[in-house]
Amino acid sequence: MDNYTQQAADLLAQMTLEEKIDLTIGKDSWSTYGVPRLGIPSINVADGPHGLRKAVARDLTDGLRSLPATCFPTASALACSWDPSLVEEVGRAIAEECQAQDVQVLLGPGVNLKRTPLCGRNFEYYSEDPLLAGEMGCGFVRGVQSRGVGTSLKHFACNNQEWERMSISAEVDERTLRELYLSAFERIVKQADPWTVMCSYNRLNGIPAAEHRGLLTAILKDEWRYEGVVVSDWGAVDNKPASLAAGLDLEMPGPGLNHTTRIAALVQSGALSEMVIDAAALRMLRLILRANAARKTGIAFDVAAHHALARRVAAESIVLLKNTDGLLPLVPAALRSVAVIGGFARDPRYQGSGSSRVTSTRVDSPYDELARSLGDGVTLGYAAGYSTDGTLSEAGLAEALAIARSADAAIVIAGLPESYEAEGMDRNSLALPQGHDRLIAEVCRVQPRTVVVLQNGSAVTMPWFDAPAAILEAGLGGQAVGGAVAEVLLGVVNPCGRLAETLPMRLEDTPAFLNYPGESGSVRYGEGLFIGYRYYDKKGISPRLPFGYGLSYTSFRYSGLHTDRTTLRAGETLQIDVTVRNSGARAGKEVVQLYVHMPVSQYNRPTKELVAFAKVHLQPGESRVVSLQLAARDLMVYDTERHAFRLEGATCRLLVAGTDLSAEITLVEDPGSARRVFTRYTSLKQFFLDPEARMVLLETLQTMPFAGADMPDTEREMMFAIPICKLVNFGRLAPEALEALLEKVNRPG
Ligand code: GLC
Repeated sequence: MDNYTQQAADLLAQMTLEEKIDLTIGKDSWSTYGVPRLGIPSINVADGPHGLRKAVARDLTDGLRSLPATCFPTASALACSWDPSLVEEVGRAIAEECQAQDVQVLLGPGVNLKRTPLCGRNFEYYSEDPLLAGEMGCGFVRGVQSRGVGTSLKHFACNNQEWERMSISAEVDERTLRELYLSAFERIVKQADPWTVMCSYNRLNGIPAAEHRGLLTAILKDEWRYEGVVVSDWGAVDNKPASLAAGLDLEMPGPGLNHTTRIAALVQSGALSEMVIDAAALRMLRLILRANAARKTGIAFDVAAHHALARRVAAESIVLLKNTDGLLPLVPAALRSVAVIGGFARDPRYQGSGSSRVTSTRVDSPYDELARSLGDGVTLGYAAGYSTDGTLSEAGLAEALAIARSADAAIVIAGLPESYEAEGMDRNSLALPQGHDRLIAEVCRVQPRTVVVLQNGSAVTMPWFDAPAAILEAGLGGQAVGGAVAEVLLGVVNPCGRLAETLPMRLEDTPAFLNYPGESGSVRYGEGLFIGYRYYDKKGISPRLPFGYGLSYTSFRYSGLHTDRTTLRAGETLQIDVTVRNSGARAGKEVVQLYVHMPVSQYNRPTKELVAFAKVHLQPGESRVVSLQLAARDLMVYDTERHAFRLEGATCRLLVAGTDLSAEITLVEDPGSARRVFTRYTSLKQFFLDPEARMVLLETLQTMPFAGADMPDTEREMMFAIPICKLVNFGRLAPEALEALLEKVNRPG
């Protein structure tokens, strides 16, 4: 028990029931109660995942204006850096701003997976892949908490769309839930220990997440041994006693009307156990004590340094999608004039709408930063092209084409206006505004040396993809996106981002297309495990550009894949070494991506799954051995008969992305892992494959049915596939003998 727990237990013993109940609800929209009588202060919480939004008003119904803070790239952009250490730096910086503005818990990171690119809140989430989302989330939590500020891992769980987000029931099968949608949460809880976890608004398989005991207690608190606080999303609690009993510790916002009186009456009547209140209050006390111990007063944060960090991070997150004939980087000495086209060039789209919105300390536009970088030697033309609503007038187009024609190169900055994607609202298509698409196509028609720079929070379609010479994906790059874009365009920074989500050719190709958004109050996750690249690979659908894709101004060569073992057992970790060489003329960063492929498995598996990655910086000609660690746990499958993760005894192939390098590893089943449960519907074959079950079956039957040599293999396969209970129909087993057999074969040990 750490000393906070002991202190909390001592304080709890001195508190009245009312004081304890108060701790389970906010004092207002952004702070908790304390216990002034015992010297326990209240603490403050504030959004958000890519910058501090410290509300000015204490009650959110009085407005959401917030104090100035640094707006970093949003999660969807940051994830393209594939650099958890960079995200950790961002976390540290935001935490410094929290300390300066007296905020003790930051409401982020958001790690919900991108099930559909239509989700309006995808800009706030990292990836379609649970490992990448988990590792980026770990970086964020470590960074923030290293400065004595807590985090809130959200939204737990399956909040993968905004449509009906406060009521819809996500219908998810157990294996998909455990292997995919809970995976990033599990990784972050176990490896970074966030001070709080925020439950989501939606229902999961019919049960509100805020009342879901299986989620909040059985999995999070018991199985994952989480000791922090479970806080509700704002307004997610509908039945407080049920939420408390399910494992929710803090309802936000507060204070609610007669909340404590009502809950106290339930306790006094025996309808609600005081132990439930004590459990929540104890966790709250621990949180308040550890937050207050780290509280700093009277500090300021370095606005300029944080802006510079935002610029560096944004540049590291930009993905070079296309670069025909090496148009990029632009060489100022070879340019007399450049046409900068698109309203986003002067008024960049750099963050998303909703609770994560930051009042930025400043915003740099791509136009201003290009002008500053290019100097007087290059004439910079500007035309807004499209209107703020995304439409394109003939006059606006004509003005844009005029400067594009006469320039040495054109830069079109386009993307998704804020009205196209936001918290609380999903997209209705993957397309950019028609005016943006048309402007890009028309400018490319008159100017072959055109670069398109995109600012968008989630995947978009690109009908004009073949037209421009170059394309940069800048995502929602934060307040310093202008400088970051200029540095990449001019080669000050060599782009090193990789896509953290697949870019589909069209909406109809996307994994959730047939099931999203659901109807009659529920949405079926019918695609199961197969979201993102897992889906496109399995279905053999070619996306516009794949997960993990990104170009560089240099090139890399791989060689010498080596593993420190060829077998792997539960609890073990494999080391994989691969040599990467910068075979180009510029320094650059490469993201080494390792995937696993299971050629043969008892389970339906994705064609490949990301299992490890690392980013490396190499000078021209430099080689480096990159070492990756792969824990057996990350190769386990969730078995829904055993209701447990297990290492399937099988051969797997480890594949290095973008190369033909691979290694074969034998996974050794853990004999101690939970055995399958044999039921009356378990096939004869499964009995036969399990040594103990086969022995018990032979003891019972004396001779194996259908084992005669005269039976053709196809017929034997057919008969071995029958459930064991059919032996009763065939007169080989009495009903009571079947029950005895199942009882014996399932007996532990
Ligand atoms: C919002 C969001 C959540 C945010 C909270 C407080 O509705 O879903 O992410 O932290 O309320 O603003």
